[in-house]
Amino acid sequence: MKRLINYLKKHKYVRSFRLRIFALIVLISLCSGVIMRRGILDSYLDKAIKARTSEVVNQMKIVGNHLIAYHYLQDTASDVINAELAQLSTLYDGRILIIDPNFKIVKDTYEISTGKTMIAKEVIQCFLGETISNHDNTNCYIEIAVPITQLDEDGTVQVLGVVLTSVSTDGIITNYSNLNRQSWIIEILMIILMIGVAFVVSAVIVRPFDQVTRAINGVVSFEDENPVVSDYLETEEIVDAFNQLRSRLKVLDDSRQEFVNNVSHELKTPITSIKVLADSLNSQEDVPLDVYREFMQDITEEIDRENSIITDLLALVRMDKGAAGLNIENRNMNDLMELIVKRLGPIARKNEVDLILESKRSVMADVDEVKITLALTNLVENGIKYNKHPGWVKVVLDADHQFMTVEITDSGIGIPESEIDHIFERFYRVDKSHSREIGGTGLGLAITRKTILLHRGSIRVNSVVGEGTTFLVKLPLSYIV
Ligand SMILES: Nc1ncnc2c1ncn2[C@@H]1O[C@H](COP(=O)(O)OP(=O)(O)OP(=O)(O)O)[C@@H](O)[C@H]1O
Ligand SMILES: [Mg+2]
Repeated sequence: MKRLINYLKKHKYVRSFRLRIFALIVLISLCSGVIMRRGILDSYLDKAIKARTSEVVNQMKIVGNHLIAYHYLQDTASDVINAELAQLSTLYDGRILIIDPNFKIVKDTYEISTGKTMIAKEVIQCFLGETISNHDNTNCYIEIAVPITQLDEDGTVQVLGVVLTSVSTDGIITNYSNLNRQSWIIEILMIILMIGVAFVVSAVIVRPFDQVTRAINGVVSFEDENPVVSDYLETEEIVDAFNQLRSRLKVLDDSRQEFVNNVSHELKTPITSIKVLADSLNSQEDVPLDVYREFMQDITEEIDRENSIITDLLALVRMDKGAAGLNIENRNMNDLMELIVKRLGPIARKNEVDLILESKRSVMADVDEVKITLALTNLVENGIKYNKHPGWVKVVLDADHQFMTVEITDSGIGIPESEIDHIFERFYRVDKSHSREIGGTGLGLAITRKTILLHRGSIRVNSVVGEGTTFLVKLPLSYIV
C-alpha cells in the first residue's frame, strides 16, 4: 500500500493540480449523490409505511365499530361483516383476526386459526387500550393490533376485543425498488454530467496558472520587454514576483554584459599600446638608444597597467566568494592607518598634497588586514590623485564602543552629483581622459565598497565640485559571522 502511494505520488499525472481538482469534484458529487439517493429512498419507505399503518388503523377502527354494531364478537354469522372483512383482507393483501376478551380468535380471514386462542404480547397490550403496530422488514408486512372499544354510560372506555391485522408491504417495496432503479439511472446520468462539469471547472480553475506559464515562457528570454499582466486576482502576486525577478535578472544581465565589455576593452587598451610601440620600434632601423629606452619605458608602464587591472579583477572575483574568503584578525587600526599614510607619502609629496592623519583614540578592530588596507589605501590615494596642486588630504580615525570610523577629506576637484551614484561601479571613472592620465583602472572603489560590505560596514560619500570630497567609512569593531 505504502509503495503504491509512493508510486502514485511520484507519478506525473497524480501530481497534477488539475487532475486533483477534477477527482475532488467527481468524488464530492458521487458522495453527495449516494447520500441524497439513500436519504430520499429511506424517507420514502418510512413515510409510505407510516401512511399505510395509519390508513389501516383508521380502517380497523371503523371495522371495530361495525363489529360492535353487529354484535359480531358474540355471533360471527353476519354476512355483511364477513364480506367487509374479506374485502379488506383482499385489499390489504393480508390477514385479519378478530379476538374476543377471552383471547379466542372468533374470525380469521384465512380460516386457519378460527377458534384458537391467541395470547401474544401485542394482543395483551391492545386489550389495555393501546394501538400496536410493528413493521417486519424481512418478511415484508406490518402487524397492526387495534382495540375494539365501546364507551360506557359512565364515560369509561371498554375494550371488547382486538382486530389483529397483517398487511403486506409488497406494493410499497415494489414502488421502492422501482424508485431505486430510477434513481440509479438518474445518478449515473448525474455522474456523467458531473464528470463533464468537473472537466470544465478544473480547466477553468487552472487557467490562470496556464496563462502565467505561457506568459513566462514568452518573456523568459527577455525578448518581450513588456511585463507579464495577470488577468486573474489569484495569480497577481505570482506575476508581480515574476516581473520583479525578471527586471532584477535584466539588471544583472545588463551589468554582466557591461562588465564583460569593460573588461575586454580595458585589457585590450594596454596591449594595443604595447603593440603600437613595439611595431614602431621594429619598423625603424638603427633606432637611437635613448628613443629605444623611452619606448621600452612606455611598454613597461603599459605592462604594469595591464598587470594592475588583472590584479584588481582577481581581487574582485575572489571577493565574490563572500565573507568566507576573509581572514579576520583583531588589529590596531592606528598602526594600520599610519602605515597607509606613510606608504602614500611619496605620491602625496610628488603631487604637492599635504597628507594629515588624526587619530582621535586608540582603535582595535576585527578586520582582514590585507583587504582593508587595500580599500583604505584606495580612498586616500584617490584623495591625492583627484586633488589640486597644492592641496591636502585629511584622514581622521575615530571610534565609539561599537564602530570605528575613518573620514577621508580632500581639497580636490570633487565629484558631480550626477556621477556620485556611479563611482562605485566597476571601471567607472568620472573624467575618463584625466583618469587615464593619472593611471587608474576604475576598479578601486568597487573593491573598496565590496571589502567594506564584507566587513559588515558602510561607506558614504559627500562631494562638492571644485571644493573637495569626503568619504566616511564605518566598520564594526567586532566582526560577527
Ligand atoms: N576623492 C575623489 N575626488 C574626486 N573624484 C574621485 C575621488 N575618488 C574617486 N573619484 C572618481 O571616481 C572614479 C572611480 O574611482 P576608483 O578608485 O574606482 O578608480 P580609479 O581611482 O580611477 O582607479 P583605481 O583606483 O582602480 O586605480 C575615479 O576615476 C574618479 O573619477
Ligand atoms: Mg582609485
